[in-house]
Amino acid sequence: MEYYIINGPNLNFLGIREPQIYGTQTLQTLEKQLNLWAKMRNVNITYFQSNSEGEIIDCLQGCYNDKVDGIVINAGAYTHYSYAIRDAIESINIPTIEVHLSNIHNREEFRQNSVIAPVCIGSICGLGIQGYELALSFLLRQPEQKD
Ligand code: DQA
Repeated sequence: MEYYIINGPNLNFLGIREPQIYGTQTLQTLEKQLNLWAKMRNVNITYFQSNSEGEIIDCLQGCYNDKVDGIVINAGAYTHYSYAIRDAIESINIPTIEVHLSNIHNREEFRQNSVIAPVCIGSICGLGIQGYELALSFLLRQPEQKD
C-alpha cells in the first residue's frame, strides 16, 4: 500500500510556530513517528510539504498518476478558502482524509469552516500528531470498510 501525507503552508515551522497550539514536535519528528507506524504495518508513506497552493495541487495530481492508495492532508490555512485544492481532491478520486493538529472548531471563526471537508472521507482535528496515525489506520482498513 502506498500513502501520501501532504502538509500545507507553515507546517514546516512546526516546533517553532505557536507551540502552545501546535506542540513542540517538528515536522521531521512527526515523519519519523509515522515511519515507525508504517514499518510495523509494511506500508509505504511518501511525505510532501509545500507553502504554495499550486505545488500542493501538482502533488495531488501526481498521486492520481501514481495510483496512490490514500492521502492524508493537512492543508493548513488553505483548508479554509482554497477551492482549487478542494477541486483537485475531488477530481483525483483517491480516499483522502483531512487532518488538523489543533481543534479548528474552538479557534477563530475563519478556521471553523473547511472548504475541503466535503470532498474528503472524513476529518480529524484536535488530536495532534496522533490524528495522522488515526487517519492512516482508517485508510489501511478501507477495503474492509467497503465489504
Ligand atoms: C491547522 C489549522 C489551520 O487553521 C492553520 O492555518 C494551520 C494548521 C492545524 O493543523 O491545526 O496552518 O491546519
